[in-house]
Amino acid sequence: MKFYNLLFIGAPGSGKGTQSLKLAESQNFLHLSTGDIFRQNIKDQTELGLLAKSYIDKGHLVPDLVTQDMIRDFIKNIPQEQSVVWDGFPRNLAQAEAFQALLKERERQLTQVIYFKISDEKAIQRLTGRLYAVQSGLTYHRINKAPKKEGVCDVSGEPLISRSDDREEVIKSRLKVFYKETEPLLNYYKKKNLLLEVNAGLKPDEVSKHILKLITLSFH
Ligand code: AP5
Ligand code: MG
Repeated sequence: MKFYNLLFIGAPGSGKGTQSLKLAESQNFLHLSTGDIFRQNIKDQTELGLLAKSYIDKGHLVPDLVTQDMIRDFIKNIPQEQSVVWDGFPRNLAQAEAFQALLKERERQLTQVIYFKISDEKAIQRLTGRLYAVQSGLTYHRINKAPKKEGVCDVSGEPLISRSDDREEVIKSRLKVFYKETEPLLNYYKKKNLLLEVNAGLKPDEVSKHILKLITLSFH
């Protein structure tokens, strides 16, 4: 059976989390989101959470060594034949190099990298309307994807919150960090012949279809 290590790269609000959850549901991928792990730690008020919060609330990256140690712990427990979608890690060149080494240690290989292409305007519109459920990890949108009952997660029933980094000035800082730190990864993975691209501005189901087509066509 084929198993994948699929990496999603895209600006904040490009839909990486939404599409990761869809793959987890429909194709049994394990969804690994560094942002979600940090947010869970912030909620649980762990040492890692306290440290991460000071960076996340400014829209900066959490220091590489902290993030890499966290990933090393997670990767140890992933069964060998489990397909994984990596959402939000790596997001700079140092992390990409570390990721390669960590995968190698576990005899895993990066299968493909999908770039979620979107305009800043659309990303900002999505983030300013986003609602989030910490426990279930599900994401909603005040207009594009409203929950069945206002303010409550459809699945877990927990109250929905706005992410503290979805304030307009923090979004601007996250976009800047994306262009400076993460965008160079596109060239890095292009050279390795791993880069694919989706139009992330389409409707969620259309983006999903496109992703499934891309990954089945390019992985034999
Ligand atoms: P992280 O949680 O990874 O945030 P991000 O990369 O900024 O991306 P988002 O989660 O905001 O957006 P998304 O692309 O997942 O979009 P979503 O599907 O939610 O990181 C947060 C912070 O943690 C970082 O800033 C950093 O501080 C730290 N961090 C994380 N990883 C790190 C690392 N490796 N190193 C160092 N620091 C790290 O969708 C957004 C909204 O749009 C939702 O409301 C959704 O319902 C809606 N939507 C989604 N798709 C569509 C669609 N196709 N059409 C219409 N609406 C849509
Ligand atoms: Mg996300």
